[in-house]
Amino acid sequence: MISQEMNDSLTLVGPGTDAGSVLRYYWQPAALSDELMTARPVVPVRLLGEDLVLFRDEQGELGLIQRHCPHRGADMCFGRLEDNGLRCPFHGWHFDRSGQCVEQPGEPAGSKMHEQIKARSYPVVEKNGIIWAYMGPGEAPEFPMFDCFRAPDTHVFAFKGLWECNWLQALEVGIDPAHASFLHRFLEDEDPADSYGKQFRDKAANTEIPMTKLLRDYPRPDIQVEDTDYGLRLTALRHMDGGLTHVRVTNQIFPEAICIPMSREMTITQWHVPVDDKTCYWYSMFTSFDKPVDKVKMREQRLKEHRLPDYAPLKNKRNNYGYDPEEQGTQTYTGMGMDINVHDQWAVESMGGIQDRTDEHLGKTDVGIIRNRRKLRAAIASVKEGKIEELPMWNGVKPSEITGPVSNDSITEDKDWFASAKASDKVRRDACPWDANV
Ligand code: FES
Ligand SMILES: [Fe+2]
Repeated sequence: MISQEMNDSLTLVGPGTDAGSVLRYYWQPAALSDELMTARPVVPVRLLGEDLVLFRDEQGELGLIQRHCPHRGADMCFGRLEDNGLRCPFHGWHFDRSGQCVEQPGEPAGSKMHEQIKARSYPVVEKNGIIWAYMGPGEAPEFPMFDCFRAPDTHVFAFKGLWECNWLQALEVGIDPAHASFLHRFLEDEDPADSYGKQFRDKAANTEIPMTKLLRDYPRPDIQVEDTDYGLRLTALRHMDGGLTHVRVTNQIFPEAICIPMSREMTITQWHVPVDDKTCYWYSMFTSFDKPVDKVKMREQRLKEHRLPDYAPLKNKRNNYGYDPEEQGTQTYTGMGMDINVHDQWAVESMGGIQDRTDEHLGKTDVGIIRNRRKLRAAIASVKEGKIEELPMWNGVKPSEITGPVSNDSITEDKDWFASAKASDKVRRDACPWDANV
């Protein structure tokens, strides 16, 4: 339980807010590259409570500038994409991709007023299917050498989905290893051969046991959390019969991402990006250590569950997430179908726009959530005191030396859990067609 004041501090994201100021020191996913693959590459972006417009100019360069025209506020999403920039259709003011006003065709000839006019703009870069924005002060930081950024484009597939809730509760489901045994429980096991592109449907580690069965049979994980250069490493241990232990290593990447195993072949690195205080997007990068990702299949699977252009899930609170009590009795724990994303979405949206943390009761299995909130509080204090050099990944550790992170399922007799997880992870890294050494 925390105070309302603390809950506001940890959750609100607009300019000048506590958590919002921390988030602004990190690259934020702003759009999928897919969204700009149109005849007129201009899309609205709402990020950290700010309304922006993202566009690609005739030179193929990206610009991200404020959505409302600095003249009298018309919507630049309807702008004319011309002359290497965006021209407001109201009075023709023209902005280049840095947001600088370069022409005001209706003002008196020779007017220099445009030199004083600049639309708010943020640096953007494109990496493996996602366009990233840096909305913080000063120079943007380097990208860490995570697998999802290091792998070639062929081995990464990116997608996103809209959740109608605050970013922090969306993130917190990802650092809660206990829920998988309940929320994602399947009462029957699917053939692991049909598992491509789905989470928890593969075989567990080096066994023939379906992950679904393992999670169902061993619902009381022992969870260990360690600090790392990038955030937290969570090791969930499920002690099985016969002296074996299932070791699941997942990660929190500060401030808002997770990196988790999806299957032997792929990991998922997922950001929970605030649109505003009560809406967020998950942006996932599915990274393959084996064959190139079958992007057509992955996209098809996910487009069946989402509506464009806003990537809103078809199952949502307005249709009770497809809840079927009969299915809940016989097939799934939730009665909301086989897509585990829908389960997570229900869990976090059903808390309300911003979870009321003045009335919660955290248990032992919530240790990852507790540790992450502590980290976020420390970061908020550092930003307030101007001690940016204390923030994770700003603290002198070279981002180019932050690799991995190890995200893996394994089964071992060994008591050195992380060593055995690492050894099992190394097997696939050694066989990986791109350089995945850590
Ligand atoms: S409002 Fe945009 S040019 Fe006038
Ligand atoms: Fe989940």
